[in-house]
Amino acid sequence: MTTAAAKKEIWLDTDPGFDDWFAWALLEADPAVRLHGVSVVAGNAPLPLVLANAQRIHALHGWQTPLWAGAERPLVQKQVTAQDILGSTGLRTSGAALPEAATPLQAGHGVDAMIDSVRAHPGRITLLAIGPLTNVALAFAKAPELPSLLAGLVIMGGSQGAGNTTPVAEFNIYADPEAAAQVFEQAPRVPGGTRMFGLEVCRQVQGGDAHVAALRAASRGPGDRAAVFADHLDGYIGVARRRGRASAPMYDPTPVAWLAHPEWFTLQPARVEVELKGSFTRGMTVCELRVPRRAVANAEVAVAAQGDEVMAWAVEMLRGVL
Ligand code: BDR
Ligand code: CA
Repeated sequence: MTTAAAKKEIWLDTDPGFDDWFAWALLEADPAVRLHGVSVVAGNAPLPLVLANAQRIHALHGWQTPLWAGAERPLVQKQVTAQDILGSTGLRTSGAALPEAATPLQAGHGVDAMIDSVRAHPGRITLLAIGPLTNVALAFAKAPELPSLLAGLVIMGGSQGAGNTTPVAEFNIYADPEAAAQVFEQAPRVPGGTRMFGLEVCRQVQGGDAHVAALRAASRGPGDRAAVFADHLDGYIGVARRRGRASAPMYDPTPVAWLAHPEWFTLQPARVEVELKGSFTRGMTVCELRVPRRAVANAEVAVAAQGDEVMAWAVEMLRGVL
């Protein structure tokens, strides 16, 4: 008798954002994944805007995964968003906009929903965080046993060197450094480990014109799901084009690809600390790779990806469901 392989059980915390949408769509498309729930956090844009994006994305695809609103502001600092780059709603399109139809939110707070779901499935859920870490930090503070009940923690955020929001800070960490510091402090308590996918590895996964064309080819008519998705991928890449680059990093899809195909990635154990005090370096992830010689590791940091394989897989996954 053959038994079906166990599904990967995931909770997604997100701030859509186009690359968040791409990541979410891959999770929904993967038959090997069971997505327990999605919590939305303020990040790329203020909470009402990223929530509206999430509700409209959800409705466009007709997904079943329950959706919650999470934290509206960072733990300590004033809100920062990526609207200066991603546009006022956090989602740019070169053509069709998302239809207005919106999936209703679940009652209650996303942090409580995350806690309830992890408690109900001890040792089974991997928490994938692709926005600022506010919801995750709040959940760990409210339910201190939570890190030990996870199967794993996977974070898109940080960098080993240069930043994308300040010279040294990546957006998701810079948007709530206190939350990130609290989460990395708890990281060693996650039984299956904590993984950080920072700028360096995500920049090895580039989306360009060929990917837009391949997704557009799945369209059966103007304004259908494939066309809307392709227009938003095109809009996202447009930011890079205006800076003289032909392609753009697929930040949030990168850890999703690792969940499906870890063989395409190289990770190294590291000590990750979040700088909270430096007047020039606040929000920086200081990664000590000389472990255990110089420090005790609290995470694994992804350092290399086979980007072409990742993008070919991602486009094929999406073409099947768009
Ligand atoms: C991260 O910041 C956001 O703008 C993206 O969605 C991604 O999660 C990249 O720095
Ligand atoms: Ca994001």
